[in-house]
Order: sequence, then structure tokens, then C-alpha cells
Amino acid sequence: MSSFSRTDIIKMLSLEGRDKEKLFRKAVKLRNKAVSDCVYLRGLIEFSNICRNDCLYCGIRKSNRSINRYEYLSDDIITCVDEIVANGINSIVLQSGERSDASFIRNLAEILETIKTKYPAMVITLSVGEQTRETYRIFRKAGAERYLLRIETSSREHYGKLHPGEMSFDNRVRCLHDLQDLQYQVGTGVMIGSPYQTMENLAEDILFFKRIDIDMCGMGPYIPSSGSPLAGLPYDKEKSIDLGLKMITVLRHVMPDINIAVTTALETLTQEGWELGLLAGGNVIMPQFSPPLTRKEYMLYDNKPLFRDENISLTDSIKKIAIKCGMRLAAGDPGNSVHFKKKHGVH
Ligand code: 5AD
Repeated sequence: MSSFSRTDIIKMLSLEGRDKEKLFRKAVKLRNKAVSDCVYLRGLIEFSNICRNDCLYCGIRKSNRSINRYEYLSDDIITCVDEIVANGINSIVLQSGERSDASFIRNLAEILETIKTKYPAMVITLSVGEQTRETYRIFRKAGAERYLLRIETSSREHYGKLHPGEMSFDNRVRCLHDLQDLQYQVGTGVMIGSPYQTMENLAEDILFFKRIDIDMCGMGPYIPSSGSPLAGLPYDKEKSIDLGLKMITVLRHVMPDINIAVTTALETLTQEGWELGLLAGGNVIMPQFSPPLTRKEYMLYDNKPLFRDENISLTDSIKKIAIKCGMRLAAGDPGNSVHFKKKHGVH
């Protein structure tokens, strides 16, 4: 497989017009060949917005006093899972703010076991931040098979500008390695267009994904969250969308057989975000299944969509999008990472 240099990647990220279109079309071909032409779904449950971190860009950072904090009980989560199953989806993402107290760990492990008992075929992805290796082991044993933990930026210096001093870039990298050791399918990602970010940072992000050999990626444009410490800084929405799409395309060229999610942040910034993301080479969509009442409390950034059109079934509307993009909807297929399967000799 050809290898890409930082200069190659910066060039690809800078293409415009016909050259850019060509790059996108090739990414779609690479995806269809290395993974498939299917769109895979994950039902997203944002089960708590309680967080110990104070990330300078985030709407649920701990110092934000203007939101109500919530945490679902086991039954609430199972109700969400039931709805996801009713939509024919066999893959869920359980996401929350970061906590590491014993009761959080115990409760979550129990919830994982309950879900796996009720729905043995359900593939569970966790996204609950930085934890100890032992905690990751407990969750893995309880039934989680995949984990999402964004590095946010692969530059230590840039990381320092987006996070408070007590957060450590090295610990985040340690987490990703522990997760891989524990045989999780591991996904990471970055925010695109975040304050102080350079093109070099983005190129290095792609090389970081390749170097640590991820199985999945979720990258989305940065969107200012009003009231957050970084909210007042200059922000170019159009550029964030453009680069957000290009990052998907370039990553597909560099790592053709990984799963790449088209994020809610992209869908928030532009009406056809999901479509554009699939046409850029993405293959995973993660619709929200959190109960409507708590959605407004999980505002990672401004204008995050709260409701969808309830008159048309979710899978039907995504099916339409898939067809429009020349793809097929594989609703019930949990869509394991082909990259992971190859690495571990699973077929
Ligand atoms: N804009 C875009 N994405 C954000 N996230 C948090 N805050 C923002 C924001 N303002 C993303 C982070 C985190 C994920 C759960 O949400 O990348 O990892």
C-alpha cells in the first residue's frame, strides 16, 4: 500500500474544484472496495452529561453551570436500546461525560451485562472517556467490544491550548493503547477547525491515526459552544465544513478499510451533512436515541439538533440518503471494522 507523507496530505487537503472532486470520487471507490458500499448504523445513547473535565471548547464541561446534569438509570437505557432494536439496529454507542467513581463503573458494567443478556447479538461501543486499564478491562469483560476516545488533536502543544492544565495528552494516548491491548475495536478522532489548529496539525492527525493503527474514526467540525472559554475566538464555519469533509476523504485514502463515521457536528453545520460525509468516503451514521427531554442538556456545541421528523421512520430516511449516495443501508448488520478483523485474523 502506498504511504503518504505530511506534504502529500497537506496537498490533498488543499485541493479545490475538479481535483477535489476527483479525490472524493476515488475515496468512494476505495471505500466500496475495502469495506463495502453499505451504510452502517449505530444507535447513540447519551446517558449522562456529568463530567469531571473542563475542556475549554465543550458545552458539558464541568464549570458550565447553565445546564442541568442528568444520569439515566438502567431502565431508561434499556428503553432506549429497545427502541434502537425496534428500528432494526444491532449496534449501539453508550456515551457520557467522564467519571471514574466506583458507583459509575459498577453501574455501567451492570448495564452492559443487562443489555447483553437481553440482546446477545447487540454490539456495544463505549465512549466514556479516559479510564484506568483495569476499568477498561471490567467494561470489556461486561460486554463492550468497541471504544471511542477522541484524541481531539495529535499535537501535544495544540492539545494544551484546548484543555486545562490538569488534562494530559500522554494519558489519552495511554488509554488508546490500553484499549487496543484489551482487544477493543478502537476509534479516535479530532475536531476540525478548532481554535489554533493548523493544516500541519490536521496532516499530523491523519498520520497519527495511521501510526497507532486505529479501527474506526469519528471526526467532526468544531462548533463554538457559547459561554465556553474558547467561544469568542475567530471561527470559519465554511472552512470547518470543507476541511471536515476533506479529512474524511484523505483518511479513506490513507486507511481504506477502517470505519469512518459521519458526525452529528457535520449534520449540524449543514443540512445535508450526512449525505456529504458519505460522498466523501464515510460509511457510518450514528443517529441519536437519547430521550428527547435530556437532549437539550447534552449540548456539546451550539444548535445540536434535538429532534428529528417523527413522521418518517429514521431508518427509512437514512435509507433514502444512502440510496441518493449510491449506497445501501445495512441496518441490522453491526458493521464490524474490516481493518480490525484483518488485524486479528477474524473473518
Ligand atoms: N464542537 C465540536 N465537537 C465537540 N465536542 C465537544 N465539544 C465540541 C464542540 N464545541 C466533541 C469532542 C468530544 C465529543 C464527545 O464531542 O470531540 O470528544
